[in-house]
Amino acid sequence: SSLPAPYNEHVDTHEPGSPARARLAEALATLSKEVAEIPVVAGPAELRTGSILEVTMPHRRRHVIARAHEAGAKETQAAIDAALAVAPAWAETPFEERAAIFLRAADLLSGPWRARISAACMLGQSKTAHQSEIDAVAEMADFFRWNVHFYAELQKHQPVSPKGMWNRLEMRPLEGFVFAVTPFNFLAIAANLPCAPILGGNVCVWKPATSSLLGCWHVLEMLREAGLPDGVLTLVPGHGPTQSEVALASPHLAAIHFTGSTGTFKHLWKGVAANLDRYRTFPRLVGETGGKDFIVAHPSADPIAVATAISRGGYEYQGQKCSAASRIYVPRSLWPTVRDRVVSDLASMKMGDVADFSNFVGAVIDDRAFARIRGYQELARQSATILAGGGASDAEGWFVQPTLVQVEDPKHRLMSEEIFGPVVTCFVYDDAKWSDTLELVDGTSPYALTGAVFARDSIALAEADVALRNAAGNFYVNDKPTGAVVGQQPFGGARASGTNDKAGSMFNLVRWISPRTVKETF
Ligand code: SER
Repeated sequence: SSLPAPYNEHVDTHEPGSPARARLAEALATLSKEVAEIPVVAGPAELRTGSILEVTMPHRRRHVIARAHEAGAKETQAAIDAALAVAPAWAETPFEERAAIFLRAADLLSGPWRARISAACMLGQSKTAHQSEIDAVAEMADFFRWNVHFYAELQKHQPVSPKGMWNRLEMRPLEGFVFAVTPFNFLAIAANLPCAPILGGNVCVWKPATSSLLGCWHVLEMLREAGLPDGVLTLVPGHGPTQSEVALASPHLAAIHFTGSTGTFKHLWKGVAANLDRYRTFPRLVGETGGKDFIVAHPSADPIAVATAISRGGYEYQGQKCSAASRIYVPRSLWPTVRDRVVSDLASMKMGDVADFSNFVGAVIDDRAFARIRGYQELARQSATILAGGGASDAEGWFVQPTLVQVEDPKHRLMSEEIFGPVVTCFVYDDAKWSDTLELVDGTSPYALTGAVFARDSIALAEADVALRNAAGNFYVNDKPTGAVVGQQPFGGARASGTNDKAGSMFNLVRWISPRTVKETF
């Protein structure tokens, strides 16, 4: 076919004095002065309900950067109807045309839209320039380009046709609409959840996390510029259960594509069960949920590599990645080196406004996150040892100090519960207890998203490989457990971490296809 080969988008480093940094600084200054008005988008119609959700900068919490009109039941229904109205035409649009829109979007993103979308993500979600670059630019462009490649590959999967007949699989989209419920922490994921099904010919109703609305709004504008027809992607800003209730009660719900908390996904799943008799088809439920991601070091590991994995895997983007390293198992012999290095890394991490490029740590997303993480810091103060950090301040924004904790009890709540913030908990084990430790890693938390093992001894690596087979959907050997790259490390986990449909791969895309098998004889 004439499709270009997929590749991973280049990551700008924004060196001081570089044109990339100048463009980003200018976009930050411009967006900081604006207050975007975000409507409900229902086909060509933009609905202004007047019920306003204010979007503020997490690191400057009184600074409003967007005002979104919340979709009520009526507007959510209007968005569903608008999507369904264009569904037949979109399904009939040849794959090559749909693909061209997303390839164009990837080019817009890596070109003229790059600084603006990155700035929107930095300001709205309190990401540093680097974290925003790898998410809102590189990963999003990668999703668009690789999805095109994977769909093209999938269509080649055809049955055999003995003499006298022609058997084929038609890769139809699902019948109905896909409800995309998207998280605050990655703009790339927020874009991919609706866009992966859309590329396959589906229509989507998109409910982003309120705190990511500024970025999502820009993504929608960019997709329109790339040629996405009205109605294919509708937008229902919302904070409460209204939008989900309306979507889940629709007979035309074909699927939910979700990333967020395990609790919310279960709630949606139960909502689908409660409405099951209404649906024309069984909705597909694809969800990536929580994590309590581990790093386990063997006595043969390089302690400096372990420390670096903790500092980066645990604290980048304030620990608000579902893949973030959160529970750490270190043998006693390595502990002093690992601990001292992480403590010194943390001392050098500057925290503050992400528009200042020298800061490594921004704010956590909102008041609820701040209160939850403070609660875990308090728990650490009462029942564990805080080795670094432990403080927080909400004077300007939702700032939580990167915090390193040591527990004596490997089953401590800090070792099993998802914190979703910059708090990393370590358990120090006796060097002789490697296999017991592997059992602990596997059995302590209900999640199984990502995890990392560090060892130079190949037998130890082989033991970890077997013992932790089901403990992580993304398993890293001698590397941090974050930073999966589309096309390189398909992403997702099972157990309480989701349906493991591997974002950024064919395994995910196949869920948006409802094939028709055709046998024609002649
Ligand atoms: N894909 C991200 C990572 O690997 C998490 O969603 O860090």
